[in-house]
Amino acid sequence: MKNDLTFKKTIVVGAGAMGIGIAQVLSQAGATVFLYDIDLAGVKKALEKLEKVMERLVVKGRLERPESREILKRITPIEALEKAEGAQVVIEAISENIELKRDLFQRLEDLLPADTIFATNTSSLSIASLAKGLNHPERLIGIHFFNPAALMPLVEIIPSMATGPEIVSGCKSWLTQMGKSPVVAKDSPGFIVNRVARAFYGEAMNIYEEGIASPDTIDWAMTSIGKFKMGPFLLMDFIGQDINYSVSESVWTQFYFEPRFRPNISQKRLVEQGWLGRKTGRGFYTYEKGSAVSNPIKDEALGNAILERILALLINEALSALGDRLCTLEDLETAMVKGVNYPIGLIEWAKKIGPDKILQILKDLLDHTGDGRYRPTALLKDWVTKGKLEIK
Ligand SMILES: NC(=O)c1ccc[n+]([C@@H]2O[C@H](COP(=O)([O-])OP(=O)(O)OC[C@H]3O[C@@H](n4cnc5c(N)ncnc54)[C@H](O)[C@@H]3O)[C@@H](O)[C@H]2O)c1
Repeated sequence: MKNDLTFKKTIVVGAGAMGIGIAQVLSQAGATVFLYDIDLAGVKKALEKLEKVMERLVVKGRLERPESREILKRITPIEALEKAEGAQVVIEAISENIELKRDLFQRLEDLLPADTIFATNTSSLSIASLAKGLNHPERLIGIHFFNPAALMPLVEIIPSMATGPEIVSGCKSWLTQMGKSPVVAKDSPGFIVNRVARAFYGEAMNIYEEGIASPDTIDWAMTSIGKFKMGPFLLMDFIGQDINYSVSESVWTQFYFEPRFRPNISQKRLVEQGWLGRKTGRGFYTYEKGSAVSNPIKDEALGNAILERILALLINEALSALGDRLCTLEDLETAMVKGVNYPIGLIEWAKKIGPDKILQILKDLLDHTGDGRYRPTALLKDWVTKGKLEIK
């Protein structure tokens, strides 16, 4: 627990999966948290769940009991937003609905002074669209936590065009004080992680749809050879096919149907069928006693080809993001390692493989399929031509 926190008085709105996790993060860092949700019973349930989480930490010896009590005591459920006086920061984690979020911020503007920071945890809405209509749009910023918020170190900070620069630097140092790894991204679809990681899922599904390998073989290649913590298919089953598909569709639509982000029919069918993954007992995998049934073909040559193809797409997307000035190179590397647990940063990986090899893989795929998703990005071509990666 730290006492030097820049912002000590906070409100979290929405006590769902993300809201309660964010409340835990804030309280563990020593902030007081007012917790509000339109569903009062939901707040109670969320707090009961948090009590159990705290109890588990105490039993495992990771937390002293008095400290766990203090953490819970610092979170106060409120039944009306009017009760949230004196808050310096509001973090909104309500349902992903633009009208609901806009209404909430406009109401909060009537209740709180102009210097209260408004943060949204949205995954897919633009910060600009939420800032519209506010009297003080400079106070609104995206602070995107990853699930589970208490465990995942990465937080993406997304200023809109109107956000005050002092709000960005203030939030960055505040999140660092709380032990998080903040990165700053432009207000662009999917921000960093949900954009770049699309290639991990999408290219794996293309390889499967082309009949080259089965999901378990592709997962084996990515984990055993590539050292990813989880293969793309098992991860999609874990996240939920419905959730993963809707992120893909949202990023693709917002990028004006750019082929690099085109969703996959095999996943759409799973969603239509209601085979949503682990939570329904079937997705790309079937599950027996909670475990995915897997019989991969452990062919090294095939495995290497799968890994290289998926990495080529991931690296191309990472370079496309850098070319769009989405974020700094350092933040890009941090985002993929700390937000989705990639074994190493994608640019570091590109250096190991060699940009010329990645370019050749993409050119061959483009030539063979004619599919625009394989267009090598300008930064990759420049890297190969100039012999060094230059980001101006
Ligand atoms: N679940 C994830 O993995 C994840 C990760 C990062 C970001 N996000 C984003 O975080 C936000 C919340 O996601 P979640 O998964 O926690 O959702 P959730 O459905 O678990 O929780 C949303 C909560 O908001 C409450 N709510 C709805 N409208 C409200 C209002 N007007 N005022 C107060 N409370 C209201 C609901 O009662 C519910 O308890 C979304 O914007 C989502 O995109 C989710």
